[in-house]
Amino acid sequence: MIGLIAVVDADFGVSKNRSIPWSFPEDRRLFYAKTKNSVLVMGKNTFLETEEIPLKGRINCVVSRELSLKGHNDESIVKFQPNVRIFQTIEDVCAEYDDFWLIGGAKLYNYALNKNLVDYALITRLHRRHNADTFLDYFHFEKFSKKILEENSHYSISEYFCNNF
Ligand SMILES: NC(=O)c1ccc[n+]([C@@H]2O[C@H](COP(=O)([O-])OP(=O)(O)OC[C@H]3O[C@@H](n4cnc5c(N)ncnc54)[C@H](OP(=O)(O)O)[C@@H]3O)[C@@H](O)[C@H]2O)c1
Repeated sequence: MIGLIAVVDADFGVSKNRSIPWSFPEDRRLFYAKTKNSVLVMGKNTFLETEEIPLKGRINCVVSRELSLKGHNDESIVKFQPNVRIFQTIEDVCAEYDDFWLIGGAKLYNYALNKNLVDYALITRLHRRHNADTFLDYFHFEKFSKKILEENSHYSISEYFCNNF
């Protein structure tokens, strides 16, 4: 199963100025619980934003056409860490793993949605707007069945199931 996990604002914004413009501990807890012992797949920008610190207890797959783990004197090289893997495409990840979470950012999410690769999504939506500059292409979820798991005055958490899955 290919899952997508994201937090979005009221406009389905994902980030602003290359960082997440909100602090939301409840969601970090949900993220850590759901992705424990899993394979995570992220775009280059998301990985570089973590200063190349991989999430513990998970295989961290970074998708990039530019980064590599080999070579010398080159800024495109990621330092070797046993739980970090670099793939050129999401399709290359699919060739090795059946089950993984897409954890962002927007470019990676939207590519996977556009290619109908996503089976399931877990989306926390904040009710506030945060003037984001990158967005989840929400229209893709019209093809999904939605189930609200939790709703309060600040956010809602919903599951989306691909109707073809
Ligand atoms: N709200 C949330 O839940 C959430 C979650 C995660 C991240 N974020 C935020 O999102 C922001 C980053 O998002 P972003 O859209 O700028 O970048 P991103 O998706 O993290 O990374 C984009 C880069 O990853 C590579 N990439 C992505 N999709 C690819 C594909 N299908 N095939 C090959 N390479 C692919 C490309 O690298 P190359 O140019 O090297 O090919 C691309 O330039 C960060 O600020 C982060 O904090 C938010």
